[in-house]
Amino acid sequence: MTSIGIHDLAVATTHHVLDLAELAEATGVEPAKYHRGLGQEQMSFPAPDEDIVTMGASAAAPLLAEHGTDGIRSLLFATESGVDQSKAAGVFAHHLLGLPSTVRTVEFKQACYGGAAALQTALGIVARNPEERVLVIASDVARYELDGPAAPTQGAGAVAMLVSADPALLAIEPHSGVHTADIDDFWRPNDTTTPLVDGALSLQTYLDALLGSWGDLQAHGGPGVDEIDRFLYHQPFTKMARKAHAALFRHEDRPVDESALETSFLYNRQLGNSYTASLFVGLAALLDHDDDLAGRRLGLFSYGSGSVGEFLTGIVQSGYRERRRREATESVLAARVPLTVEEYRALHVSYTDDSDERETPRTTAAPFRFAGVRDRIRRYERTAGA
Ligand code: CAA
Repeated sequence: MTSIGIHDLAVATTHHVLDLAELAEATGVEPAKYHRGLGQEQMSFPAPDEDIVTMGASAAAPLLAEHGTDGIRSLLFATESGVDQSKAAGVFAHHLLGLPSTVRTVEFKQACYGGAAALQTALGIVARNPEERVLVIASDVARYELDGPAAPTQGAGAVAMLVSADPALLAIEPHSGVHTADIDDFWRPNDTTTPLVDGALSLQTYLDALLGSWGDLQAHGGPGVDEIDRFLYHQPFTKMARKAHAALFRHEDRPVDESALETSFLYNRQLGNSYTASLFVGLAALLDHDDDLAGRRLGLFSYGSGSVGEFLTGIVQSGYRERRRREATESVLAARVPLTVEEYRALHVSYTDDSDERETPRTTAAPFRFAGVRDRIRRYERTAGA
């Protein structure tokens, strides 16, 4: 059978960034707790005219500019931080991106797992019709209660992936391991803009889902731990990936070697949690910075609180180095405008997802912006940078 997988992948993030050393200083916390304890340096933070739609469309625009829209008949948009209870965020993105009407568009939700679910669905669509290509967007703003214990694990980012037959980056293998358990480790009721979290429970359920998915992968004939060359994990904070790797290797009775994980942390350490996008931001960092991946097998673990896990594997394609977007990603990270802690707090407090009439101030330099709410409808527009 023809291989199917990720043909191209691009990352976008927000206009602003907050340095966690400054947050630590302002809140009387040892900076080492954030840097070493959580493995985080900075977090992206959206301007008032940015959200999951603007980030998602910004990630997808370079893919469409390079590959065109021929054969794209599906736009699958994964998010935890949806902007409407009914309309898919992807429909706004579809309009901003000028996609043809002959595209099905839908939103995927299961906390941080939605991105992997959208990818799996895309693989299935292409398996049915190998001429089709699927645009997958995973985009999230991880916004936690101000000054709560989860605040240093906030962040924001989007990844767009073009899924096709004969992919240039990563061919996803047919077997995967899955795991679902009804657990209240992290959830967000309709009347709150920040999730309710049982942090300690979430760490445990992440690891339970990892070992559950791994066991299912093994039961379905997936590769063993020695046949996987690099491991990538969902990164709510990069230390979590270390904990996951250690748990998996202990479970398999192997010595724990974390050295190969670090490369996949390069972007997430700077942008923070991006929920559905986080695993794929880790993939982008690995592909961009590891020159010895051709023909190697990656293991990718996705976790969404609540909870669902999936362990996928894929083979990096020989031409991946020509397709990577390292400079573009490094430049969007470097271009972020630093916030002071006071500015961050003011932005956090003023955030609303209500449908009251408003115009947002022009801030973002991204190609698309959230212009405000008129007649209770969210309005988006292209910017001069588009
Ligand atoms: N120097 C170095 N390390 C330090 C330190 C210092 N001065 N002070 C503390 N640390 C270390 C601690 O030892 C700890 O490390 P270990 O876990 O390896 O022991 C680490 O810093 C964190 O400190 P605490 O255990 O005291 O944790 P906390 O109360 O500050 O909260 C948290 C941490 C539970 C992760 C919290 O940030 C949180 O609730 N985050 C959101 C939930 C989350 O991300 N869960 C992850 C799994 S769920 C998931 O993956 C889905 C998702 O995206 C949300």
